[in-house]
Amino acid sequence: MIRSPIPIGKKVASNRIVNQPMECNDGDSCGNPTELTFKRYRKLAEGGAGIIFIESMTFTYKSRARKNQLKISEDTAKGLEKLVREMREINPHPLILFQITHSGRYSGSDFSNVVSVYPTGDPQVHLLTEKEIEEISQGFVKATLIAKQVGADGIDFKHCHGYLCGEILRPANRRPDRFGGSFENRTRFFRETMEQIKKAIGRDSFLLGLRFSIYEGIPGGFGTPGPEEVEEDLSEPLRFAKMVEETGMDFINVSAGIPAITPEIVRPTKKYPEGIYRHFGWAKAIKQMVRIPVIGSGYSYLRDGKNDLKESDPSKKSFLYWAEKNLKEGKVDLVGIGRQSLADPLFARKILSGNLDQINYCTACGGCSVLLGSQKEVGCAVYDEYYKEVLRKIKNEI
Ligand SMILES: Cc1cc2nc3c(=O)[nH]c(=O)nc-3n(C[C@H](O)[C@H](O)[C@H](O)COP(=O)(O)O)c2cc1C
Ligand code: SF4
Repeated sequence: MIRSPIPIGKKVASNRIVNQPMECNDGDSCGNPTELTFKRYRKLAEGGAGIIFIESMTFTYKSRARKNQLKISEDTAKGLEKLVREMREINPHPLILFQITHSGRYSGSDFSNVVSVYPTGDPQVHLLTEKEIEEISQGFVKATLIAKQVGADGIDFKHCHGYLCGEILRPANRRPDRFGGSFENRTRFFRETMEQIKKAIGRDSFLLGLRFSIYEGIPGGFGTPGPEEVEEDLSEPLRFAKMVEETGMDFINVSAGIPAITPEIVRPTKKYPEGIYRHFGWAKAIKQMVRIPVIGSGYSYLRDGKNDLKESDPSKKSFLYWAEKNLKEGKVDLVGIGRQSLADPLFARKILSGNLDQINYCTACGGCSVLLGSQKEVGCAVYDEYYKEVLRKIKNEI
């Protein structure tokens, strides 16, 4: 099953493995890809996953989460075009999708403006006006056009992990204007931006999809029943998924949590291994709601079965076991790997060809997250000497 192709919109993913977006903060000072960026994506192209997401790219350097975040704009288009071209020269098969974001309240205050949709409690954070939100919407439209122009197969309109588009969806967003309060108002930004995007690109084979956090795990977060509530209630996320489909989008990538606040929800580790089961359930819930392909997240922790799940037979708790089981049972259409794609960019190829003993399995040690949180270039600090050294230096500084 994992080897079987699947149509996504008018295109086809050649297998069911997805390299999730992984921001690695290695652009130059203007957000162009650097040799480190090219090296990472050339390797991923060689790895041959059905879909390769290019990491979270900002369309504005005025507000951005990472000092050296990749930017998608007219001035970086040449570099992005080269990136896509080089990846295709290595392997023409993977679908290459750009994740486009606005970092909102998670923009870095040391180098950019922190902005939010509803008050954060910090008076330094600029509360966006209605007009500014509309301008941000235009930014997404422009960025999508550039993605198309440089040869990407499509985009992921990022709504996950607490960044601006995720923030706007929350019950806690009680803005009194047309972007806050009711579910209708909180999803207006998505709907209106999508309408503009569709108008701008025309309806051809260019793919439009979206990744969102189905349950954020904070009071009033998306996936709770009200501004002050914390319990998981999927009514709104499921309505939203249906809306995403009805708007004509081609896929949904299901994630959960906010890395800055609830990292264990986003990334299962030995602290709470069963977190992976919640990801399975979340993807299944969306699958039951829509007919467009659904991508699941959080699979890196499973490895070859050497994990802390409470099942004594390692063969029944490995990545391959759960990927095949969930795919066969129709609980998900594609399985996404994040950290595992850093640990071993050739993971997909090795899994698909049965060379399991050659895989460098992610240990879920968190080293790459430390690099990202420290605003350094990101890569696997276990298997790659370069990033190992960057992490060592950070630890010596502490
Ligand atoms: C270093 C790092 C960078 C990440 N960058 C992104 C990103 O750019 N966009 C995104 O949606 N998720 C990002 N994530 C989250 C991953 O895509 C993924 O959802 C998460 O790691 C859980 O999946 P896994 O268990 O397969 O790693 C990042 C995670 C890490 C550790
Ligand atoms: S640094 Fe650790 S968590 Fe990150 S990819 Fe490498 S092994 Fe996995």
